[in-house]
Amino acid sequence: MTSYIEIQRIEKSKIATVDFDNLPFGSVYSDHMLECNFKDGTWQKPVIKPFAPISLDPSAKIFHYGQSIFEGMKAYKDDSENTLLFRPLDNWKRLNKSAERLMIPEIPEEIFMEGLKTLLKVDSDWIPRNPGSSLYIRPFMFATGTGFHASPANEYKFIIATAPSGAYFAGKVKVLIEEKYARAANGGVGYAKAGGNYAAQFYPTQLAIEKGYNQVVWTDDNTHQFIEEAGAMNIFVRINNTLITSPTSDRILDGITRKSILQIAEDEGIKTEVRKISVGEVVKAAKEGCLLEMFGAGTAAVISPITGFGYQENDYELPVLEESFASQLKKKITDIQTNKIEDPYGWRVIV
Ligand code: PLP
Ligand code: COI
Repeated sequence: MTSYIEIQRIEKSKIATVDFDNLPFGSVYSDHMLECNFKDGTWQKPVIKPFAPISLDPSAKIFHYGQSIFEGMKAYKDDSENTLLFRPLDNWKRLNKSAERLMIPEIPEEIFMEGLKTLLKVDSDWIPRNPGSSLYIRPFMFATGTGFHASPANEYKFIIATAPSGAYFAGKVKVLIEEKYARAANGGVGYAKAGGNYAAQFYPTQLAIEKGYNQVVWTDDNTHQFIEEAGAMNIFVRINNTLITSPTSDRILDGITRKSILQIAEDEGIKTEVRKISVGEVVKAAKEGCLLEMFGAGTAAVISPITGFGYQENDYELPVLEESFASQLKKKITDIQTNKIEDPYGWRVIV
């Protein structure tokens, strides 16, 4: 398969210009990207080529009708210089679930997996070695086919680009529980990683930022009474010693970090519940002092503790714990991801 992927190498690597000790998130890009085009009803030969701008027709349907989906993954290096991925097939499956919903042709497993592994071999030096950093991987697909007719395109592009990255959040994460806007609706595309889901969040998030918060916690579109997820993370709430997260639905992204945390927590003897969480319950627990933790979970954010939340013009602080579920679970999941401990689940994949 590898020989079936064409490799066009960059003339001069940019790697010497990158400060690996001070990596931003997702804004410094590795030398190469994988590109594969869909046309004449089939995916064409994948090519690994220098990371560079792409040229599109102004009538490409991505610009007009938003057929665009993506994934987020990370690659790590262990102490023996192995390149590691975490549950990559789950990302491939989810990309195709998103593809189905957005009428984008599904990408075959071989192109996704062999393309990704070959790209990681070509850009192996770009995978950060410092703890807390990783190579963020962004596979994405979008409509390149043209026409102003509001119907699915007949041509698409699949790209995998990568970015050596540090932490997603620079500082504390203070959230606002949303009472007016909705990120997703029943029967909609909330469960898909569609670009438009993120665009729709920017305005309410900006309003929250202006009020002094970093992120919005989305509530259900119908009643705004139940906590669903955050901008780029699933949400966990700890009330006393029970860790609770909402069930996934067609409004919520089925996060790979979320389901891994649920599994690890259960195996660590932490009581977990997957059920609807009402805002009223969270506010009451905060007032009574038994809301011990809230955190977001996602590939980019890993596990990001929430320091406080706002709701109906009131602010609620979360306690600072010496031993939190967030730090216990973060250590366990990152130790599995980076090959520091055994992986009893078979989640780690060596490239
Ligand atoms: N929810 C949303 C809206 C996201 O964008 C993400 C990030 O991918 C997540 C949850 C977490 O998903 P995962 O753990 O698979 O990265
Ligand atoms: C990820 O966690 O990988 C995501 O895709 C979130 C992204 C919006 C930064």
